[in-house]
Amino acid sequence: MNNYEIVTMFTESEIKFLQEMYDKMHGEFHEKYMNLYSVTLKVIRDDSIPADCESGWRKIEAKLDTTANDLSYRHYFLRYGEGSKVSMHDDASPTTIITMVDKDPMLDGGRNIVIDQNTGECLEFGFDVSETVIYHNHTYHGMSYIDHGHRLVLISWYGQPRDDSNFK
Ligand SMILES: [Fe+2]
Repeated sequence: MNNYEIVTMFTESEIKFLQEMYDKMHGEFHEKYMNLYSVTLKVIRDDSIPADCESGWRKIEAKLDTTANDLSYRHYFLRYGEGSKVSMHDDASPTTIITMVDKDPMLDGGRNIVIDQNTGECLEFGFDVSETVIYHNHTYHGMSYIDHGHRLVLISWYGQPRDDSNFK
């Protein structure tokens, strides 16, 4: 089994809902946040979900829970723009689910980079709006530098994290 896979689990209207939810939430821009560079972070917590998004979000969350079949640890939006990149790392939680919510049609760069656990090979790939990438078993990953454009993703961590001391 590969340590990553690409699936389609959300409908167009669910993706549109996520775009609207992102726009309604407050977030912070970070020049550097751990392995991330030039990103806007919006963390989804019980107290940060816009009131009119509550029931819609719970449906999205339920789908993610079913896919992961594990305990949810953290959900957050990341918007990457020009100059963004993610250096190679593995996440504290064993499973990471990344859903493309919005993507500039002219995006140049911003491709996912993974190390294939079977071959040790470094692979680079893109994925589209409405698609979801699942990283299993602490997949080592990053994202290539964005020369132009932006991308917005929903990131969901599942399973007991090794160490969550870096997170607020
Ligand atoms: Fe990560």
